[in-house]
Amino acid sequence: FNINVQFYILSYLVGGIPFGLVFAKLFTGKDIREAGSGSIGATNVLRVLKETNPALAKKLAILTVILDALKGIVILLIAKIIGLDISTLWAIAVFSVLGHCYSPYLKFEGGKGVATGAGVLLVMLPIETLIAFLTWFVVGKVLKISSLSSLLALIALIASSYVMHHDLEGIQTHAPLWMIAFIIVYKHIPNIVRLFQGKESKVI
Ligand code: G3P
Repeated sequence: FNINVQFYILSYLVGGIPFGLVFAKLFTGKDIREAGSGSIGATNVLRVLKETNPALAKKLAILTVILDALKGIVILLIAKIIGLDISTLWAIAVFSVLGHCYSPYLKFEGGKGVATGAGVLLVMLPIETLIAFLTWFVVGKVLKISSLSSLLALIALIASSYVMHHDLEGIQTHAPLWMIAFIIVYKHIPNIVRLFQGKESKVI
């Protein structure tokens, strides 16, 4: 395989590491796929573990979000440092999110791509991602619904990206961005249904 393909495989395999699931199992013995939303991300770590140990739940959720983001960031930064081109970097970003959402270690089940997506997009589109982060934070603080803040942050990210890249380069940016967005929204369909039914759970 050439170096690009090696990086695609690597980012998929590293993206698939289910930190939230591993931490929850390691520290509490619980399988978070069998409780709450069934997702393996930080939100479900917090949701499921807070019933028995709120302090530990918060720590493990923070650790999960950081490592889920870092697993995308690290591979992408290495690829950037060795000089791989922009379309390869974007493909690596997509493969990291795919790995997280369709993990090879979990029979292709997994998380919803928010933390890993945020990580890779921070490298690819730093300003837009900071705008998204701000949106996520404000909506999260006010409404306390994790999925809704993630989805609104995603909309803010796409909107700001269109505002900032209305040149030719933008076309290259927007195709992979839409791919990542599609994966994240697709994984949030159960959340979106619950949101419309007014049944989506709040965190904290
Ligand atoms: O980050 C994932 C979040 O948007 C939704 O997670 O567990 O509430 O489905 P969850």
